[in-house]
Amino acid sequence: MDQPHQPPRFPRGLDAIAYGGDYAPEQWPEDVWADDVRLMRAAGVNLVSVGIFSWAMLEPVEGQYTFEWLDRNLELLHRNGIRVDLATPTAAPPPWLSHRYPETRLVDRHGHVLGQGARQSFCPSAPQYARAAAGITEQLGRRYGDHPAVALWHVHNEYAGLNAHCYCQTCAEAFRAWLRARHGDLATLNAAWGTTFWSQRYGDWAEIEPPHAAPAPVNPAQQLDFLRFCSDNHLENYRRERDILRGLSPDVPITTNFMIANCKAVDYWKWAGEVDVVANDHYLQAERDDPHVELAMCADLTRSLAGGAPWLLMEHSTSAVNWQPRNIAKRRGELARNSLAHVARGADGVMFFQWRASRYGAEKFHSAMLPHGGTGTRIWREVAELGQRLAGLDRLRGTRVKADAAIVWDWESWWALELEWRPSVDLTYRERVEAYYTALWKAHLTVDFVHPEADLSRYPLVVAPSLYLTTAAGAKNLDAYVTGGGTLLVSYFSGVVDANDTVHPGAHPGALRDLLGVTVEEYLPLRRDQRVTLSDGTVADVWAEDLAADAAEVVLTYADGPAAGQPATTRKAHGRGTAWYVSTRPDPAGLRRLLAPVLAEAGLAGSPDLPDTVEVVRRPPYTIAINHGDRAAEVGGVTVEAGTVEVIEEA
Ligand code: GAL
Repeated sequence: MDQPHQPPRFPRGLDAIAYGGDYAPEQWPEDVWADDVRLMRAAGVNLVSVGIFSWAMLEPVEGQYTFEWLDRNLELLHRNGIRVDLATPTAAPPPWLSHRYPETRLVDRHGHVLGQGARQSFCPSAPQYARAAAGITEQLGRRYGDHPAVALWHVHNEYAGLNAHCYCQTCAEAFRAWLRARHGDLATLNAAWGTTFWSQRYGDWAEIEPPHAAPAPVNPAQQLDFLRFCSDNHLENYRRERDILRGLSPDVPITTNFMIANCKAVDYWKWAGEVDVVANDHYLQAERDDPHVELAMCADLTRSLAGGAPWLLMEHSTSAVNWQPRNIAKRRGELARNSLAHVARGADGVMFFQWRASRYGAEKFHSAMLPHGGTGTRIWREVAELGQRLAGLDRLRGTRVKADAAIVWDWESWWALELEWRPSVDLTYRERVEAYYTALWKAHLTVDFVHPEADLSRYPLVVAPSLYLTTAAGAKNLDAYVTGGGTLLVSYFSGVVDANDTVHPGAHPGALRDLLGVTVEEYLPLRRDQRVTLSDGTVADVWAEDLAADAAEVVLTYADGPAAGQPATTRKAHGRGTAWYVSTRPDPAGLRRLLAPVLAEAGLAGSPDLPDTVEVVRRPPYTIAINHGDRAAEVGGVTVEAGTVEVIEEA
C-alpha cells in the first residue's frame, strides 16, 4: 500500500538555520520593499512570515479579493532568495465581519460584548467566522499553494492569545455539544461534576451554561470542562484551516505559532501532534533577575512538545517589547545570547517579531530587526552579526538535545490548581515548576518536560512539582517509573484530585499516597510573610503540612512553626527506585541543598565547578556554552568569555 504523502517537517527549500521575522509589507509604500529585501539579504535573512494581519487588505469586501500586492511582494522575495512563511490572516478579521455578522463578536464572562479596532476579537465558535476564515484560507491555498517562494504555512497567529474564552450563546451551544461527546448522558455528567453539591443537578442539557460570572465560584468540574472545551474549540479552528491547506498545498509544511510561556488557556500536549513543525513565540520577562532561565524553560518545554525534534522559534524580540509594564531594552550581546540559547535547546530557526519597526499602530514602540533609526543602530549591527553567526552554525541543524532529567508538566493540572477556593492563594503552578527548573538549571542539568502519562523510563530523575490533578493513569505511570528503578521527587499539593476535581478517596495525597509512603493529616498553609525553619536550617514559606511518614524515612523535619518536630521531607524506597516528597516551599538555596542527595541518587553529577551563570547544553556532537556572567569560564577546555556564546565540538 502507498504511504500517505508526508509534507516536509521543516520550511521547504530552506537549507540553513531559519533567520528572519514577521514582515508586514502592507504597512509600507511599495518603494520601501526594495530596501527591505536588500537589507534582509545584508542581514542574512532567509525566511519571513508574511500576511499575518492582512485580511482586510486581501479581502476588503466580503468575497472580493485584492491579491495583486501580495503577488508582487512574494515575487520580489522569491527573486531575492528569501523564503516565505505565508500566513492565513484569520487572527485579525476585517471590520466588515463583525459589522455584518454581530454574532461573531467576542463575549466575556460578564456578558459584555467586546469591541473591534484591535485584533483576535471574534468568537471562536461563530459559524460566520468559520465560513469567512475557511474562505480566505482556501483562496490563499489555491493562489499560493505551489508558489516557489512558499516554504511554510503559518496558520492564524497565537490561537487563543486574546480570545481564549468566549461566553456567548453560540459558545454555550458548542459547549453542550462537547459535553455530550465527553459524558454521553446527563446522569454521567451529573456524577462527574458532583452536582448534588449546592443543588446543581441538571435535568436538561439546555440548562447548562458556560461558567459565567456568578456570586460564588462556579462548579470547579464545570470550569475545568469549559477550559478543556475552549482549548479543543480553538484546535478545531486550526484543523479547519490546516486541512484546507493540506489539500491545496500538500508539499508545504504547516504550523501555527504556540505561545508556551504565557498561554495557560491552550493544552499544547493535544496540539503538538497536529503541526508539521512545532513553532513557538517567546518574549523575555525582562524585569526578572534571571530572565534567561525562564527563556531556557520555555525552550525546553517547546522541544518537549516537539518530541525532541528540531523546532522553530517563530517570534522573539531584538530588544524591548511594548506591552510589559516597563519595557526593558536588551543590552549588548543579549540578543545573541537569547537567540543562541533557543538554538542550544533545539531550535533550528530564529525569527523575530518584527522585521521593520512600525511607524503607527499599537506596536510602534516594539523593537524590530530594522529599528526606526535604520542601519545606523546597535540593534541593526547585532542583527546582522547574528545572521552571519547563524549561517556558520549550520552543522547544528537536525542534532538533538540531550536531556538529563524530566519535569512533569500538565496544563489540566495547572488549570485545576488555580481555580478559586484552594487552601491558599499562594499556591501557583508555574512558580513551583520554575523553582525546580531553576535549581536544575543552576546545577547545569538539561530538562525535558513530560506529560504525567508519558513514558518516563529513559530519565534517571523525574520531578513532579505540585501535580494537584493526578489521574489514576498518571499515578500508575509514576508508580511504574519508580518501581522500575527511577528517582521521583514530588512536591506538595500533588495527587489530590482526579480529572473532575474530585478528591481521591482517603487521606491526601490520595493518588500518590502509597507510592510516597506518606499521609497528610492536615494542610498548614502559612500566613503571608510567615517563615518556618527546617532541621538543616533551610528557611521555607507558603506551605507546611501535618505529615505522617507511614512507610517512608524522614529526611528533614520542621524545626519550628505549626508543624514543629514533624516530617518535612521524606524518602521511600519503592520497587527498584525511590520516591521523595517535599511538603513545603524551601528558599532557593535550601532547595538546591535538598536536591543534592536526590541528584546523587539519580547519578546526576552536573558540573559543580562551573559558575551557575554559565548555561551548558548538549546537542551532540556539540556543546553550546552561554556565559551570562561577568567573568570568563572554562567549558570543555574552551574559554567562554563573559557575555559570549561558544559552540564546542565534543571530543
Ligand atoms: C506576539 C504577537 C505578535 C506581536 C508580538 C509583540 O504575541 O504574535 O503579533 O504582537 O507579540 O511582542
